[in-house]
Amino acid sequence: MDLKVLADIAKYEKRFDAAIKLANSFKCSYFIPFIIDPEIGVLLPAPGFPQTIPNGDVWNSFLQSTLTKKYYSDRLPYPDLENIQPATGFAGPEGSVMVMLGGRPKPREVAPLLDLFPLLVQLFTQEQAFKTAEVRVELADKSAAKAEKLANTIDLMRLKLKELLVRQKRDKNDIEVLMEKKDEFMNVASHELKTPIASMKAYLQILNTKLTSVNDEGIIDLFNRANKQVDKITVLVNELLDVTKIQAGKMEYDSAVFDISELLQEVVTQVQVTAQSHHINVEKNPSVLVEGDRHRLDQVINNLLSNSIKYSPNADKVIVCSTLADDQVKVVIKDFGMGIPEDQHKLIFDRFFRVSETSHRYSGLGLGLYISAEIIKRHHGQIGLESSEKGSEFYFTLPVHRPDRARDKKG
Ligand SMILES: Nc1ncnc2c1ncn2[C@@H]1O[C@H](COP(=O)(O)OP(=O)(O)O)[C@@H](O)[C@H]1O
Ligand SMILES: [Mg+2]
Repeated sequence: MDLKVLADIAKYEKRFDAAIKLANSFKCSYFIPFIIDPEIGVLLPAPGFPQTIPNGDVWNSFLQSTLTKKYYSDRLPYPDLENIQPATGFAGPEGSVMVMLGGRPKPREVAPLLDLFPLLVQLFTQEQAFKTAEVRVELADKSAAKAEKLANTIDLMRLKLKELLVRQKRDKNDIEVLMEKKDEFMNVASHELKTPIASMKAYLQILNTKLTSVNDEGIIDLFNRANKQVDKITVLVNELLDVTKIQAGKMEYDSAVFDISELLQEVVTQVQVTAQSHHINVEKNPSVLVEGDRHRLDQVINNLLSNSIKYSPNADKVIVCSTLADDQVKVVIKDFGMGIPEDQHKLIFDRFFRVSETSHRYSGLGLGLYISAEIIKRHHGQIGLESSEKGSEFYFTLPVHRPDRARDKKG
């Protein structure tokens, strides 16, 4: 056995060619050592030998037979499927196998090589471990690079998100500032309007006293119309003022105990004077004490009554009915007008909301119900409606005043 050849086998680059020379010295054509790959636990050609072998299954059973019999001969395809050659396997240390192809040497003929085989196996195993470690390092490097890239992406995303949040906050602040400005403007505008309207009303009152001596029907009619228009503007401006107060949380409420039936009758009488087209029919009105702001509750009843007249132009009556149940008084105002589509019931108490099909035919800002709901809420009552094609039925409830409870609260 040529020592130079053996030395070359130890060198990775020269290994395959040296192995052929070695095989030739035993009258064979190829020498291929197999060692166990620790990663997958399978016999593979040692490092430096071609890793693919033709018809792996046949090779595998050959190697297994060698391992059980220590020394085994058969025929194997190599280097391709067409070349079937005689093959002999010798079992080595740690599950390794050396295969001679192209001949059938006896163990005693290859004894020197068999003696050296454990050394070779040791070398191959070390190389293999090194290779695996190298692959691992490479993989780790790749993973690290990937992780770094991912970290950068996350960082970028975090920055973008932060930017977005900052922008969103800024937009929200902008909107809030705009809303505040709008409320402020509404407040200033309605205050500014209030003074000239009050003087207009005063002038009209003076004019009224002078009109008694005038007998011109036309002038009296014009005067009445002007008066009505001024009243309308007064209502609108007051609504705007109330909304700005509600928005700013500055709506103030007086508190007194009074009979709701008296207030109801009062408002009905007052509205009836201006509404000649409808008869307001008070069906039930039991005397009940409630505690709250009489003026504000007057406003609620007025709103509901005016709406029921305004939005039932083809009807000629409105029904008012008050009932008492479970410590609550319920006031219902029923009209026979256009009604309100069911899907809009929830929205009807919102600021500026008006039913689109009907509202454009009637003047209004869509604030009356919003203000009324706010007032009833502050009185711990409920407001709502039922509506059909035959009309609407608005109601509100208020807790009945109980003197003992009031005293409980104080003491
Ligand atoms: N009794 C009613 N019948 C039909 N529609 C009504 C009635 N009351 C209120 N509405 C609808 O609800 C909307 C809001 O009412 P409201 O807040 O009082 O505002 P405004 O009367 O100024 O429009 C009205 O525009 C109208 O479309
Ligand atoms: Mg209204």
